[in-house]
Amino acid sequence: MSEKVIRVKQQQKTKKLGDLYGLFFEDINHAVDGGIYAELVQNRSFEYCEIDYKEYTHFTAWEKSGNCEWSIETEKPLAKFNTHYLRVNGENGAIIKNQGYNNGVYVKAGKKYRFSVYLRNKNQEEKQIVVRVSDKDFGVCCGEGYFNCSITSHDEWKKYKLEFMATKTTTCGELQLIFADGGEYDIDMVSLFPKDTFRNGLRKDIVTALQEMKPKFMRFPGGCITHAGSLDKYARDSMYRWKMTLGNVEERPTWKNNWNCNQSLGIGFYEYFCMCEDIGAKPIPVLPGGFNSHTQEGAWGKELEEWVQEALDLIEFANGDCQTTEWGRVRAQLGHQEPFGLEYIGIGNEEIGDGFFERYPYFHKAIREKYPEIKIINSAGPFATGQWNRAGWNSAREHGSDLVDEHYYAAPEWFLANMHHYDDYDENGVKVFLGEYASWGNTYYNAIVEAAYMTHLEKAKAVALACYAPMLCNVDYVYWRPDMLWFNNHEILKTANYHVQKMFMENQGTDEVQVETENLSEVLELIDGRSLWGQIELMGEKIEGKVWDVSLEKKTGKIYLGEEIQISNQKVQHLFDVNDEEYTLSFKFLRTSGENGLRITFAKTDDQNMLNWHFGGWKGTESNVNATTNGRTTTVSNKSFGMENEVYDVRLEVKGRHIKTYINQELYNDFEQRVPEIEELYVAASIDETTNQTIVKVVNLLGEEKEVDIVLDGEEREKVTLMLLQGNQLTDENTFEQKELIHVTTKSRSVENNKIKHIFKPHSVTVLVFE
Ligand code: AHR
Repeated sequence: MSEKVIRVKQQQKTKKLGDLYGLFFEDINHAVDGGIYAELVQNRSFEYCEIDYKEYTHFTAWEKSGNCEWSIETEKPLAKFNTHYLRVNGENGAIIKNQGYNNGVYVKAGKKYRFSVYLRNKNQEEKQIVVRVSDKDFGVCCGEGYFNCSITSHDEWKKYKLEFMATKTTTCGELQLIFADGGEYDIDMVSLFPKDTFRNGLRKDIVTALQEMKPKFMRFPGGCITHAGSLDKYARDSMYRWKMTLGNVEERPTWKNNWNCNQSLGIGFYEYFCMCEDIGAKPIPVLPGGFNSHTQEGAWGKELEEWVQEALDLIEFANGDCQTTEWGRVRAQLGHQEPFGLEYIGIGNEEIGDGFFERYPYFHKAIREKYPEIKIINSAGPFATGQWNRAGWNSAREHGSDLVDEHYYAAPEWFLANMHHYDDYDENGVKVFLGEYASWGNTYYNAIVEAAYMTHLEKAKAVALACYAPMLCNVDYVYWRPDMLWFNNHEILKTANYHVQKMFMENQGTDEVQVETENLSEVLELIDGRSLWGQIELMGEKIEGKVWDVSLEKKTGKIYLGEEIQISNQKVQHLFDVNDEEYTLSFKFLRTSGENGLRITFAKTDDQNMLNWHFGGWKGTESNVNATTNGRTTTVSNKSFGMENEVYDVRLEVKGRHIKTYINQELYNDFEQRVPEIEELYVAASIDETTNQTIVKVVNLLGEEKEVDIVLDGEEREKVTLMLLQGNQLTDENTFEQKELIHVTTKSRSVENNKIKHIFKPHSVTVLVFE
């Protein structure tokens, strides 16, 4: 058998890698509160309410015991936007208790903690208050301190602080305020932090894990939290307004977070910028475009000007001189004299709706005129293809955006079928910022498929930035999975996907170099490229209606179904079994009630594999086709549509792997359902001019080992360090019980004559660094 060779042309640079690999910080899954923000008290300012989440009240996470009355008051608040506080009136020994996040407050024996609270003593004398963390299971004290609450006027809030050392460890503690002498008090901003945090009060273990990845950039603060909410900045559910997130934490508002919780804003834009600096990542803030794509509401005229001004002010805040500019001065007052060196700004997050693209030009023009050096990122919807992806690209080309932010979450098979997704993109045009992507899952298989895809991202000339999403998830507040880094109140869990991202990020290199291979097949087909046959079914998605005049046309003739079919919610109606290359399904449809539409299933081979045309999906507003492969679903085509309660002519055409949908004879979806394929090995190579290293990344997705000669043309290398990601089964997943099931091992060996022979293990990711 002929030798397999990977030849790396160290001198032949093919692409500047720039800031390719970075992070996406999204405040989802309690990533901030109960996550990276080290505050241990939940609902510390009694601001939680049902607008944030239907189960919340101002008392959420709080309990009381002993003889004690309590109420929520708003009459004389601590600050303009911190409007609620707790009034307690109790006898000696009355207690209020905070339950923290997860199972409770975590404190570790021997570590110090900082407590603070704002109080208004409503008594005639000084009173003692004991602060204690008590284990909820055993009722034992794990650490405590006390202070005396002095007499104040009835209007005066006073801040009390104390520090104590934990004497016992607990992961299920509660913070208690024990009113030793009883009395009446107003209470706000009850806070407990570990003393040992990452700079500005961030959780050390999480931030360190991110810092260790050596990210080139960090996109923040979301995700949907960027553009969801009200346009009114004073509303409880305000859209993200960066200026409101600055300053003393007790003076910041708290908002509804789109992901079913409250955002305390303890981490605001200043803290995000500092965090970027601390972990060595360039900041990429994303701002709303004055338009809520969830509700299609937007600002115009003077109101839109205000939004545009916010974007300009943010650039000044980040980069402006600390003496001569207004927002540069604000930054300096907050503690950062030097500019943050902002290079990029994003406007919009996966926007759906013309409303965004009508407003984007105002932002673009104003930013370009005032700050021509800033790279402006446009937005391209939630899918890899389709109407809003095209709208984003058209807008970017028309206005001259520097990058377009693409998002997609897909089955691993989609990634396998679309390794060359970016090959046709114009390398001299607007660049791709792949601002959110992941394959559905945290298994070893997901991670190695992502690694294979990353070798292609690295080589794709049009791709400038890429980051996995979402980044963080608290195990007890899961609104989105998979996620890169999981945590509870005391531990973190690095997923296989984290390891892949880290391997690629810390070994990115500065320039891609040419690789040539010998005797390695480019494509070994994974599944046959058969046409899309199987069962055809109909189902109502929260609607009632009827279907009639049903026919299936094939090369061999046309079949009619005589009867009218009643459609009801979730009731699956089997229509046909198809085993033909080409077929056309036609029928008439009327929705009689409900606000969604009809699911038309085709090419269904079993419950895990099918295509679904959601005709009138997403509350009747879309015509989407989703592919489910091995139980994992990907949106493969999307288009806006407005379903009414009227009769529609519906047609689905399948020709081989080409699919077209028609509504009232108008073409809606038109796409090729690509076949997943596997390359014999996935290879990318780069050099790092700062460290003078040559880096080769190799992914083996096959279940057999591959022996390969790696040959370096050019500069002499003496040593290679090999990092290997290893798991046993493709279904393996790191868990808190088995954190290291999938892990990276490192070893070094010498290199002779610029050549090594290496056996790439089955299902493996290897990064080789030559020096
Ligand atoms: O990452 C999860 C969500 O996915 C983001 O908030 C949004 O941008 C996308 O829909």
